Amino acid sequence: MFFKVLSALFAAIWSVICSFFPTFNFQITVNPAVFDCGNEYYSVIWATSAKGSGYIEYTVDGEVKRIYDASSGLIKTDDTIHTVTVPKSELNGNSYKVGSQYVAFKYGYSAIKGKTVESDTYNFKGIPEEDDIKLLSISDIHGMEAQMYQSLSYFTDSPDILILLGDIVSTMETKNDFCTVLKDAADLSKSEIPVVYTRGNHETRGEFASQALRYFSFETGEYYYTFDFGPLSAVVIDSGEDKKDSDPGYDGLVDFNSYREKEYNWLCSLDADEFSDAMYRITFSHMPRLSDHFGKDWTAPLLSLDMDLLVGGHHHKSEFVDGDLPVFIDCGKNTSAVWAASMLTLKDGTIRMLTIDISGNTLLDKTITL
Ligand SMILES: [Fe+2]
Repeated sequence: MFFKVLSALFAAIWSVICSFFPTFNFQITVNPAVFDCGNEYYSVIWATSAKGSGYIEYTVDGEVKRIYDASSGLIKTDDTIHTVTVPKSELNGNSYKVGSQYVAFKYGYSAIKGKTVESDTYNFKGIPEEDDIKLLSISDIHGMEAQMYQSLSYFTDSPDILILLGDIVSTMETKNDFCTVLKDAADLSKSEIPVVYTRGNHETRGEFASQALRYFSFETGEYYYTFDFGPLSAVVIDSGEDKKDSDPGYDGLVDFNSYREKEYNWLCSLDADEFSDAMYRITFSHMPRLSDHFGKDWTAPLLSLDMDLLVGGHHHKSEFVDGDLPVFIDCGKNTSAVWAASMLTLKDGTIRMLTIDISGNTLLDKTITL
């Protein structure tokens, strides 16, 4: 009893001290990014300089709604990365902000808490009203953010959705690596448009790689899923590692054979009727050459869904390959052009693919009519 009273007293005193005289500069270090997780939900993810709680706040039907980063009734306080699952129908076209409070430690009957910080208020655009949409396609950043923004300076149109096509970082060894993915997602989307994330093979490597999934509410529980965005119906593939499980570089610590089998069965189970009303049908996959993906033709189930285009990265070049399922490879890091970004424009039944490098050179400008 004495220790309960003592810890509660200490927590109360410390909370007052932290509120008026924060012992350090607790702040939001990564602004929120709104990740598409399927047809129903977004995961809004951000990071703070120290561990604490997290919430999102927006107004629905005239009432302020707050959703906490919580698990089974408990507000989480033990992480610097915060995530909330939000219904798409409530966030599309709405404004929101996120907040976090520093929590030094949660005792059984008290907690040491400090400063609360809140983000700016963002106007989240959601799905455009017109059937003319622009997709910013970014892959293979590999630490070259400065060059990426140089390439982007040559694009005049604002995107409606960001496609992060993987290999944003070169390894996922630490939480900081994952925060780099989050920061690029937040900065490129300005926290105002949805982000579609396809995992790259480099993002399967390192200690933290197996922990990143818990921050997303993907509808399948894995990195692969489907989503609609206005006139677009899309499949997101997780192409996983690029070499066999037996490769010595993996040191016996991968089991992509089982994972691929599960994902392939899921892909084959998708119902073509769910895509039949879409004006555009696109598959996103970090590795775009899926006709012989570790011994299986993954393009066959995609063709049965009447996919119009497969968009990927991984090869560090910009290329369009025509065929039953045309393939567009965006660029990212490149040996001769240094770095290049791509924009896809969906308009009047056509898809335009445009890639521009850091010097303003157009590497590819191709339009297909569906
Ligand atoms: Fe790659």
